[in-house]
Amino acid sequence: MAKLAIKGGRPVISNGLKIEWPIFDEADEKALIGVLKNGHWCSCGYLFKNAQLESKVAKFEREFAKWNGANYAIATNSGTSALVLALKAGGIEAGDEVIVPAVTYVSSGTAVILANAIPIFVDIDPGTYQISPQAVEEAITNKTKALMPVHYGGYPANMDRIMEIARKDDLLVIEDAAEAHGSEWRGKKVGSIGNMGCFSFQMGKPLTCGEGGIVLTNNQDLAVKCYSYGDLGRMPIEKGGTKYDTYISAGNYRMSEFLGALLSVQLSRLDEQTQMRYENGEYFARELEKIEGISALKRDPRVTKRGYYFYFLRYDPSRWDNISRDKFMKALSAEGVPCSTAHNDPMYKNIVFYKNAFGRTGCPASCPFYGKKVDYSKFYCPETERIYKSEVVALGKDFLMERENVDKILEVICKIRENIGELK
Ligand SMILES: Cc1ncc(COP(=O)(O)O)c(C=O)c1O
Repeated sequence: MAKLAIKGGRPVISNGLKIEWPIFDEADEKALIGVLKNGHWCSCGYLFKNAQLESKVAKFEREFAKWNGANYAIATNSGTSALVLALKAGGIEAGDEVIVPAVTYVSSGTAVILANAIPIFVDIDPGTYQISPQAVEEAITNKTKALMPVHYGGYPANMDRIMEIARKDDLLVIEDAAEAHGSEWRGKKVGSIGNMGCFSFQMGKPLTCGEGGIVLTNNQDLAVKCYSYGDLGRMPIEKGGTKYDTYISAGNYRMSEFLGALLSVQLSRLDEQTQMRYENGEYFARELEKIEGISALKRDPRVTKRGYYFYFLRYDPSRWDNISRDKFMKALSAEGVPCSTAHNDPMYKNIVFYKNAFGRTGCPASCPFYGKKVDYSKFYCPETERIYKSEVVALGKDFLMERENVDKILEVICKIRENIGELK
């Protein structure tokens, strides 16, 4: 009789993993009701100028900046918006190239398009799944203005090398830390190592208010510009801004007061949650070392803390009797372990890029300021292609809150290994 659930056997996890997300209690409810009752629902600076209370968004910005070790924070309505603000504040314009890893979420690329510039996708380091510094160096041209390392899945990119390259070529560094709350590179939280760092607070993220984002920076000038690009071109009130004076053409990317209030409460739990996920993630990686043909991402002593958005497993079909990664994933799912390949494809293969779907004019990928036309269907990053095709198995971060979940997943992997013959 078959043992594997995919062949009709009993699944190891028949009632699902123990997962609770998002997490909230009365403190969150009180914060939301507090805003509801105080009547200040919008975070516009001028609304608080003569008010007897402080903006909840401004308070959260101060708290998040301090928590991360940055001087300034500008909250936004999404992580994508945060990236757009950072690019615009950094002076990125039509005809400029921004180097982005091919393994990321679509927003890292489309934010560059929304800032009127051209994302150039480069390959990853296969051991960490993060942007390859060597690939970055090879992609730099006289059009390159910025680097966007993404701390993909919460694993810090190699910030030593990225900063070194940026210094050498006088490039701006915008960290896409949308998935990396609490991750540390050499004891410093990611998001305030480059010129600017952007986070998302969308519901699946380690710190969430449903939808939201933030830009961090240590540079006052960039902070003022981010504010201005996020608030219709106004200047901050402390800098003499008023309600009706606008200095640049800009959108409204502001965060609502409800979300600022909620995030302050959520932030108070983040360190404990990150520690829990980190310890369980380390335990998982150590236990995986005992199983042949599957491993966690490389453990690097410079990564002093890992926040998690994904837990990546590296599956090696050649050590699983050539059973394909896809078949392995189906077997995992059948045993009760939800899994995916994360973002599915190299970013240049995402429809918007692959079909060069930039509207009637083709702008900004084809632009007189650029002087040439980029064709994303011609991009090819071998390591990125390889991991999506046959290696990566991604688990969402939430199981890491419980050691019991990790043990169950290990049991599933061992069970599949022991009954591998059933998958042939
Ligand atoms: C790497 C990365 N960048 C940017 C974003 C965009 O954030 P948001 O969904 O808040 O716009 C995300 C969100 O999923 C992300 O994972």
